[in-house]
Amino acid sequence: MSDRYLDFANSGVGGWLTGALGLPRPAPLRRRAEAGAGLVGPLLLGPDTDGRLATTLGRLAGTAGQKTHVEWSPDVRYGGLVFDASGCGDAAAAQGLYRFFHQAIRSVAEHGRIVVIGTTPELMADAEGEAIQRGLEGFVRSLAKEARRSIGVHLLYVAPGGEDAAGSTLDFLLSPRSAYVSGQAIRVAAPVATSEPGAGHKGRRVLVTGASRGIGEAITRLFVADGAQVVALDVAGAAEGLSALSAELGVDALALDITAPDAAEAILADALARGGYDVVVHNAGITRDRTLARMEPREWDSVMAVNLSAPLAITRGLVEGGGMRPNGRIIAVSSLSGIAGNMGQSNYALSKAAWIGAVRRLAPKLAGQGITINAVAPGFIETQMTAAIPFAIREAGRRMNSMGQGGHPVDVAETIAWLAHPASGGVNGQVVRVCGQSLLGA
Ligand SMILES: NC(=O)c1ccc[n+]([C@@H]2O[C@H](COP(=O)([O-])OP(=O)(O)OC[C@H]3O[C@@H](n4cnc5c(N)ncnc54)[C@H](O)[C@@H]3O)[C@@H](O)[C@H]2O)c1
Repeated sequence: MSDRYLDFANSGVGGWLTGALGLPRPAPLRRRAEAGAGLVGPLLLGPDTDGRLATTLGRLAGTAGQKTHVEWSPDVRYGGLVFDASGCGDAAAAQGLYRFFHQAIRSVAEHGRIVVIGTTPELMADAEGEAIQRGLEGFVRSLAKEARRSIGVHLLYVAPGGEDAAGSTLDFLLSPRSAYVSGQAIRVAAPVATSEPGAGHKGRRVLVTGASRGIGEAITRLFVADGAQVVALDVAGAAEGLSALSAELGVDALALDITAPDAAEAILADALARGGYDVVVHNAGITRDRTLARMEPREWDSVMAVNLSAPLAITRGLVEGGGMRPNGRIIAVSSLSGIAGNMGQSNYALSKAAWIGAVRRLAPKLAGQGITINAVAPGFIETQMTAAIPFAIREAGRRMNSMGQGGHPVDVAETIAWLAHPASGGVNGQVVRVCGQSLLGA
């Protein structure tokens, strides 16, 4: 769906008028399709290059062919700033953050990226260290709100042993693929399994549920574009969309209701016949919105079944039945509603928030089998679902985030593709918001 205000504010007359009236002018996001892979300018590293992450940063700068600076210059517009605060153990040391960003923040180009690297707070040697590392979240979230101009700002906590595994996440955060992700604190630890250097999605077998339209369709398209073999699952009622997608992209279509009593068994049998899945994306979801006092039992039950019980049963079936391949990935689509709560969505919010608990509980268990499980929590994404929201509420949902606009289904797909990447085995049990740093539930 088009965002008329965004288009208008970025047109000649509209730009002039919004400027004259002092209205916000959000910058249209620069995604992979428009931008290729790289940053919009050189990368500035701070405070120096010999921190714990020096090798990872050096490799990243080298592989991306990215021009890297270690000295700030007032004459350069930087595409990205990366500050290694992983050794920061007290308030005095944190002053380095102030000095670096005080000077450099205004030199970041529109669509730039900022990443602060920390150490997982609980792994610091003392309380002061843990406190200051935890404090980085407040710093980064504030910086994200100040940066604006479609600049994404992130905190990457790297546990000792996770330095090499941090590469795929840094790569994502510094790329246009993370266009609608900002203000997130992501944790990386030692990977659950080793991956071939340079391996990507090519040839990986991916199951996407709810694939016939919206976000599921975007996930399917992205994995296909990246060379994966996708099985696109949706209900029989969505057969038309599913077969069109299958004909266009050459994906295998699986018409199946995930809430059917034998669904988990059928999906496992199908998976085994294909040699197992590398990636499973639990995207299928429904809403049945009504305030709790008016909600019918079937509205409660159907939301719980589609959004939670069925994907949990499918996960259990695939993991216990040998339907996941080594270095596998399971990704659930949660929602900002589950984090912030939403009027009329007590059923939906419970089912989506439940995934936060599920990934946390299952992550250490699945790690033993070389599998990760994570969730993404989209905010306002431009789909048929959000197009149906009344105008005033829709406008509020769109603008109430640091990017000043709604995300696109591809933004959710890109985040899932990063979590699903063979090199992302250090990210496990996390919930990553794809919401442009929504003000809700922040
Ligand atoms: N659109 C947003 O802004 C937004 C925000 C947060 C979270 N989400 C979540 O993202 C996911 C996709 O959302 P969307 O906007 O693309 O929705 P959508 O309604 O366009 O697509 C959902 C798909 O799931 C399928 N599905 C529903 N029940 C099923 C079942 N029992 N078995 C198999 N497939 C089934 C539908 O047929 C449909 O193709 C959902 O889980 C949704 O809750 C969306």
